[in-house]
Amino acid sequence: MKTKVSEIKSVKEDEEKIREAAQIIKNGGLVVFPTETVYGLGADALNSKAVEKIFSAKGRPQDNPLIIHVASKNIESYVEEIPEVANKLIEKFWPGPLTIILKKKDIVPNVTSANLNSIGVRMPDNEIARRLIELSNTTIAAPSANISGRPSPTDLQRCIEDLDGKVDCILGGPQSDVGVESTIVDCTVEPALVLRPGGITLEMLKEIDSKIEIDKAIMQKPSENLKPKAPGMKYRHYAPKAKVTIISGERKKTIEKVKDMVNYNIEKGKKVCILTVEENEKEYTEGIKIVLGSISNLSTVAKNLFEALRKCDDLGADLILAEGYEQKGVGVAIMNRLNKAAGFDIIEV
Ligand code: TXA
Ligand code: MG
Repeated sequence: MKTKVSEIKSVKEDEEKIREAAQIIKNGGLVVFPTETVYGLGADALNSKAVEKIFSAKGRPQDNPLIIHVASKNIESYVEEIPEVANKLIEKFWPGPLTIILKKKDIVPNVTSANLNSIGVRMPDNEIARRLIELSNTTIAAPSANISGRPSPTDLQRCIEDLDGKVDCILGGPQSDVGVESTIVDCTVEPALVLRPGGITLEMLKEIDSKIEIDKAIMQKPSENLKPKAPGMKYRHYAPKAKVTIISGERKKTIEKVKDMVNYNIEKGKKVCILTVEENEKEYTEGIKIVLGSISNLSTVAKNLFEALRKCDDLGADLILAEGYEQKGVGVAIMNRLNKAAGFDIIEV
């Protein structure tokens, strides 16, 4: 398949390019588009045949439901009932990096929801995405625009790398700001439950409803008796080709342990990358350092995390050593993604 790549500088001036992409959606094709979390791989969510193409382009397991993207807060056509807490979350956080799970209406086909009777809905905070949805005159189902299992793409180049030749069109926009996928809150249960941590933190959600908690199963290695409630959270994910190990604990001890491991592995002839922060960077003299951001502003770390994992692959790393983060605020989402990339290989110091 020939993929058309269109860069969008301004929604107004490049409206024609977005209109062309919308026509592809209407015709049942696949369009990659930017969002503030990560890039999405979109199709008309109400067209089963189109949605099936998403699964084959990504190599995505059939039992992993998609979320649908909307351009307005008016979602009654797609969902059965909107509980009070969902209304409050929508008012407070949309458009933004928050997906809300609600009971679906029959208009949303079973392929889209992977046979669940619920559906995740999100209104992205990105003008290109919203204009595409509006002009498509439907709701767009979109997982992250990566080949299944790889780190989600946060810029145009990474989408081309994974999906050129597999989709009809790729719309390029700015680098994704949040850098990790949306927070998912299941509002079909009482109290509402966080199924995936993201840019909207538990602390922020608790301001709306103090009873909201995080699905315990996602913070530890999935096991037979503790399965994550979001089907997608059980798969190995975000995995670069290199082995990833997290070193977590008090700052000085973490740095010492990372240094030891770097030296040991370099001696064995391994290429080692260190995922670090501005504050710690100077401590390391060996190994390839990748600075994610600043410990005093964890959003910067989240923004660069997936890109850093992909960069390690480009560099041909054998081993990636990642410093751990305190599980507070965005730190919860960062540790969740790191843990999945590491297959929960974490050394506590
Ligand atoms: O930020 C995002 O959410 C990005 C951008 C493109 O919007 N999309 C994204 O989609 O991350 P995806 O497909 O990579 O992840 C969706 C997650 C999966 O873990 C899936 O299992 C879960 O949402 N999910 C979807 N519908 C669900 C449902 N009805 N119940 C439980 N989990 C659901
Ligand atoms: Mg994904």
